[in-house]
Amino acid sequence: MHTSHPVNTGKPSATLIIFLRALLKKSGYNEMNLLTYLLIYLTTTMKNYNDELTKEEIAAGDVVMTSEVVPWHFPMMNDTVRNDAYEKALKSTLKNGGVVLDIGSGSGLLAMMAARHGATKVTTCELVPMVAEKAKIIIQRNGFADQINAINKLSTDLVVGVDLKERADVLVTEIFDNGLLGEHAFAAIEHARLHLLKPDAQLIPAGARVYAMLIESIEIYKNHRVDTISNFDLSPFNQFTTFDYIGYHLAKTDYKALSTTVKIFDFDFKKIPGNESTPIEFEITKSGTCHAVAFWYELQVDEDTIISTAPHLPKLSCWKQAVQLFPTPFRLTKGKYIMLTAHHDHEAIWFTGMKE
Ligand SMILES: C[S@@+](CC[C@H](N)C(=O)[O-])C[C@H]1O[C@@H](n2cnc3c(N)ncnc32)[C@H](O)[C@@H]1O
Repeated sequence: MHTSHPVNTGKPSATLIIFLRALLKKSGYNEMNLLTYLLIYLTTTMKNYNDELTKEEIAAGDVVMTSEVVPWHFPMMNDTVRNDAYEKALKSTLKNGGVVLDIGSGSGLLAMMAARHGATKVTTCELVPMVAEKAKIIIQRNGFADQINAINKLSTDLVVGVDLKERADVLVTEIFDNGLLGEHAFAAIEHARLHLLKPDAQLIPAGARVYAMLIESIEIYKNHRVDTISNFDLSPFNQFTTFDYIGYHLAKTDYKALSTTVKIFDFDFKKIPGNESTPIEFEITKSGTCHAVAFWYELQVDEDTIISTAPHLPKLSCWKQAVQLFPTPFRLTKGKYIMLTAHHDHEAIWFTGMKE
């Protein structure tokens, strides 16, 4: 067993932070798990995951450890709606071949789809060492080793002439968390456009639209806030809660929609804007206590195909909706309007200004 690993050169600490943030955001886990993830990351990067696990290692818990490191990869790989949408887009884009860059290999799935649909050459990069190694094994196992170059690097560390022979004709990437931006997708796409892609390169997806609505949910509130319990005021404990968005499958959660659904951002990945703050008006459609704003998005994977992370889809998506709890709940009355401001800073979307 080796102990040396092809770790990312250049920015190991940035890589680790992105990895941990991605885990927390995508899984909706709270910060309490940060230390656990850190320990798992450090431990697992010291093991050579090229080796098949023995029964003894499985019994000793190695399988549990690997699945703990990447908990959302499995539902994601099994999300056939997501996979089929990407495959359809790759198939139509690669009708005449082309050089493809895939940011965020994971298992190598999208890179292999590109190869199977006629890509002349695919470069796929993955920042997590053991995931990158597994992608290499999977790509080889499926017979695409000659067509796909799998690299263990953060995309922003890739260099044309070193990692890719030439700039790519097509970028395919799925580095979107429940809140869209938490895996630094904007930075990665913008860097790729400037340094790794041809000027007229196709982007898959080409953009995203973000939607929001106001909700009442005692269930979500009680998972993250406390008030008077047994006649004691426990509210100072709320200092330990999160004000970031949290991932919830609303379809599996007790909640009530209080407002219309409003489009809050419409992003074209070829023209990623600077930080934005936009006033948003919600019409109140049901009276109730407003605990949170829920938001989700549609990825435009090709001209006529979208992937939606909306609640209540016919098939549950691997993405949850992003839910931002307000500091204190407030009453809303049917028929009235409420103004909020939606913000994004390339790393997150959030809301301020809750007044009826
Ligand atoms: C959501 S998964 C998608 C995996 C695979 N492309 C798929 O669709 O099944 C994203 C993967 O990208 C990696 N990743 C995120 N940002 C990256 C970046 N800028 N450069 C390289 N890898 C990145 C993550 O570690 C994760 O394994």
